[in-house]
Amino acid sequence: MHKKLYRLTYILPVVLILAFTSEKQDAETSEMNRFIDKLMEEMTLEEKIGQLTLFTSDMDHTGPFMREHYLDDIQSGRVGAIFNAYTAEYTRELQRMAVEETRLGIPLLFGYDVIHGHRTIFPIPLGETATWDMEAIQESARIAALEATAEGLHWTFSPMIDVTRDPRWGRIAESSGEDPFLTAQVARAKVRGYQGDNLKDLHTMLATAKHFAAYGAPQAGRDYHTVDMSELVLRNKFLPPFKAIIEEDIATFMTAFNDMFGVPATGSEYLLKQVLREEWGFEGFVVTDYTSINEMVPHGFARDNKHAGELAMNAGVDMDMQGAVYNDYLAELVAEGKVSERTIDQAVRRILIMKYKLGLFEDPYRYSDPQRKAELVMTEENLEFARDFSRKSIVLLKNDDNVLPLSDDVRSIALIGPMGDNQRDLIGSWSAAGDYTRSVTLRQGIINRQGDRTRINYTLGTTVLEEDRSGFPAALRAAAQSDVVIMALGEHYWQSGEAASRSSIDLPGLQEELFDEIVKLGKPVIVVLMKGRPLTLENVDEKASAILETWYLGTTTGDAITDVLFGDYNPSGKLPVTYPRNVGQIPIFYNARNTGRPESDSKFTSKYLDVSNSPLYPFGYGLSYTNFDYSDIRLNTSEIPMNGTLTASVTITNTGDRFGEEVVQLYTRQLVGSITRPLKELKGFEKIALEPGESKEVTFELTWKDLAFYNAKNLFRAEPGEFHLFIGTSSEDVKQTTFTLLE
Ligand code: GLC
Repeated sequence: MHKKLYRLTYILPVVLILAFTSEKQDAETSEMNRFIDKLMEEMTLEEKIGQLTLFTSDMDHTGPFMREHYLDDIQSGRVGAIFNAYTAEYTRELQRMAVEETRLGIPLLFGYDVIHGHRTIFPIPLGETATWDMEAIQESARIAALEATAEGLHWTFSPMIDVTRDPRWGRIAESSGEDPFLTAQVARAKVRGYQGDNLKDLHTMLATAKHFAAYGAPQAGRDYHTVDMSELVLRNKFLPPFKAIIEEDIATFMTAFNDMFGVPATGSEYLLKQVLREEWGFEGFVVTDYTSINEMVPHGFARDNKHAGELAMNAGVDMDMQGAVYNDYLAELVAEGKVSERTIDQAVRRILIMKYKLGLFEDPYRYSDPQRKAELVMTEENLEFARDFSRKSIVLLKNDDNVLPLSDDVRSIALIGPMGDNQRDLIGSWSAAGDYTRSVTLRQGIINRQGDRTRINYTLGTTVLEEDRSGFPAALRAAAQSDVVIMALGEHYWQSGEAASRSSIDLPGLQEELFDEIVKLGKPVIVVLMKGRPLTLENVDEKASAILETWYLGTTTGDAITDVLFGDYNPSGKLPVTYPRNVGQIPIFYNARNTGRPESDSKFTSKYLDVSNSPLYPFGYGLSYTNFDYSDIRLNTSEIPMNGTLTASVTITNTGDRFGEEVVQLYTRQLVGSITRPLKELKGFEKIALEPGESKEVTFELTWKDLAFYNAKNLFRAEPGEFHLFIGTSSEDVKQTTFTLLE
């Protein structure tokens, strides 16, 4: 067949399909707009204001103030969305009130903090990120949405994508750590998992980008504290995950509690109009955080709640979470000409569009079907995925003399410590509807695998929250009587998460004192850490034989850790955040700038008198039970034009005797820029699996967009010059080469 004819017969159907699809989408959009136009024509101003209001039910408490009469609010049309309410039965009843007892019967939106799972709880987000496995992270979000929507929910206040470099801040637990590129990849994966390809699909839900913006940089690591940074740092380090998530059609944004450049985020036209709408083209709706409109008064930015409402609405806030400010004052503000009804209409439309896309106007009860919970929630399949995902989150920090993995024939294990057999802490903070009574403890996990082959001498030893030495003697006896000593240490679940900053990040209570006593017995001690943040662990690192970082792994904790302890799974996690040697080093992060006096032996250089600048464990660090050898880096060229593509390849070989996975990381450094540039910046990573002796080539591609940054003129540009390029197993253990970006 003549080539041209062939091409035509091949291409024509594709073009016709694309044209048909886009025409169909246009028709659906026109139909939606017609429906919403007609509905809004019928709405009174009060009914419009109702749609801009979000109240919590009393099923869960996630903030300082509760509202007693939220049921009256629903029946009177004063509220358009309810959060912290779930189960098919309860959402159906609340929905019935809205649909059948209000004049226009506009359905409610039901939102909830489904942060790392709904009923089946996955590792806390810091742990999820430690997998560096974007497919698995997307799948965890998809399962979370499956379970949440099976219980009547339409909207999750997730992903939380606040970059943070301060482990004193309790919400680091809920973050993806210190790097903007890694956080952006996780953010995208989670939105794809939650929202899927079609919001009308019963298993998908609206997602929320939060907290906009830079909530993760509070002064002194103290939650809700002032945030001060340059616009360059904001744009180059804290905004990239939010910008990236726009490309995944994120449905909603949530404003942060903090101020930015002296203006509370909830009243910031810079953030909510200039950046979010004009620069990024965001089309969804913006909801505040919990009463953050009201909080502009204590911020000293609003005279009173009414003034705060005027500022928020005019800055671009569409929905008021729990503050009741829009409810109480918007009608007055419109009457006084301080807020235009056009602005209100724009906000109402954005919210009605999401309700329409969820199919709620066709069937308001479609998500509130009790039958779906039985089929979809905490299924064996979900739990099996959770166990695999959880063990991938585990980071092996130390393993002297290959004390791990343990032998199947180990006869006795002393399991000592407050995290060894307690269920509640395992699902961590923000565990929503998680059922901790279903959590598998470490003790149970070892029993599940070893049965009566191994005697487990379990003892609490001490507690997390008290200074209690009464359990020390029993712990010492258990250690003395056992072949292997495992200490399960960490934090209480509410010592991280919201409103849980710590000025010291040592192991709480007398855990470290107990550890020191146990180590004196001279037996190898394996430490299993369960906590919501990096802790200062120099003493533990020095004396323990092996250390596993397990964060809070969720429902399947004990089985996942046991899989790693006995080598059924070779740990592959990598740290998404730097571990400081002591709290005085904070903030300490890998992508810092060099300064004019970088640390050296000379006195007059940037360093401390009492501790090195180096972290205890660097960003991207994590060991394996096998070893990986990296070849030198191969580049396609040492000079690339501005519009060219650089390819960088390495060959990785598993030189050990067991299967393993490796996260190959690529970093760059621009040596000279129009502003000072970081020592390293993560630009790519790939998680690969290798059998013993197997080799694989990993290739990365870089274009100018990967090398660009916001310059002093706030322009996103790549600048010609010399670069270092690094590829390795952590941000410190790398191979290095150089290349030049030409004009
Ligand atoms: C909380 C949190 C926010 C959460 C909201 C609703 O204060 O800051 O992340 O989504 O309130 O629970």
